[in-house]
Amino acid sequence: MSGGLTGRPTDAPTAPASVAGLLRDIADVGRDATRGGYSRFVYDDGETTLREWFVAEAERRSLEVETDRNGALWAWRHGTGGATGGPGGTAGPGAAVVTGSHLDSVPGGGAYDGPLGVASAFAAVDLLDARGVRSERPLAVVAFPEEEGARFGVACLGSRLLAGAITPDRARALTDADGLTFAEVAARAGLDVDRIGPDPARLAAIGAFVELHVEQGRGLVDLGEPVAVGSAILGHGRWRFSVTGQGNHAGTTLMLDRRDPMVAAAGIVLAAREVAIDHAGARATVGRVQPVPGGTNVIASRVDVWLDARHPDDAVTAAVVAEIHRRAVAVAEAEGCEVVLVEESYGGTVHFDDGLRARLTDVLPQAPVLDTGAGHDAGVLASVVPTAMLFTRNPTGVSHSPEESVEDDDAQTGAVALADVLESLLLRPQEPIVS
Ligand code: GLV
Ligand code: MN
Ligand code: MN
Repeated sequence: MSGGLTGRPTDAPTAPASVAGLLRDIADVGRDATRGGYSRFVYDDGETTLREWFVAEAERRSLEVETDRNGALWAWRHGTGGATGGPGGTAGPGAAVVTGSHLDSVPGGGAYDGPLGVASAFAAVDLLDARGVRSERPLAVVAFPEEEGARFGVACLGSRLLAGAITPDRARALTDADGLTFAEVAARAGLDVDRIGPDPARLAAIGAFVELHVEQGRGLVDLGEPVAVGSAILGHGRWRFSVTGQGNHAGTTLMLDRRDPMVAAAGIVLAAREVAIDHAGARATVGRVQPVPGGTNVIASRVDVWLDARHPDDAVTAAVVAEIHRRAVAVAEAEGCEVVLVEESYGGTVHFDDGLRARLTDVLPQAPVLDTGAGHDAGVLASVVPTAMLFTRNPTGVSHSPEESVEDDDAQTGAVALADVLESLLLRPQEPIVS
């Protein structure tokens, strides 16, 4: 499934790289021949190869690489005067400027969700170098692990651990589709899993985190602009409905004798759509259903149904989930089944830091300001550090799909916009970037 890296040898001389060129180097990594697109799950072969690519790109730029206690990669460009970021760093509180995104993908995802932000960050470092921008402030490129939650079920796992938004015990116990725990998989990848968890010293050093991301809708296409500044992220979460009935034989069990949880699951899928349509602005999705044992000629004994629900108003999201649950109970009872609902994760609506956003719009006066229905590490970090986002135009408007797309020129325009923002933040005197 996973291909290797292509492109420049690691000892090539440092030269400004284009975002498109950087992404071309990883275009064969983690391709999914079955689903199409990319399946790059945290700590699998593809994502591990992308980590190696991250380290090589950092070293090419003489950035100092470290893996934090939660498995995030940080590549530091030290400040003039030697101020360093990271653990034990000498930069003062709030001195560091951080940019980056993630390397993992959803199953069968596109090429840009995550890697565009990391590649744009490296390209922006090159632009800053070419412009001769030096600063007392350290700058880091970061790649967070398991942003999609595609392997262990909780989105933004790395940034949640960093920010203290999930307990280390819960994270360690999360399991993947093969029943392996996050603790086992991360330990095998070299992480000291006894040390995962909040990292207040690291957070205290960060004055601003700016994540560039492919736009996951058509806002910029409709506005005819290549780059936007982010304003907010819709509240969103994941819930699991486990419906239990009676496993039985598909040929010998008469239709009226069945207690088939798959029939109830179908009712939940339809309820999700109907309830979301009844609440303006709500989105509710069942993208994953797992029958147990899962045989063509077997009436399932249990079906797990995962619901993703989102709305700008957290109370509406709660009402949507409660109503879907009410309908799930009714449809399960009618089928002689039982249903149990578990919330797997939730994050309320996030409004990015006003002061930092104002700085971005000062630097990029042409850029429209857009909110997004997609989740990001920036949304998790917004509760602990001043955070902002940039979006790069996606001509298809499609994401979490191989159809996700970015034109090479737009990718470069995004990197230039990011460099402009970073330059402005780095050249701030040593006082809080935002107050
Ligand atoms: C991640 O991309 C999400 O929005 O779930
Ligand atoms: Mn993403
Ligand atoms: Mn995504």
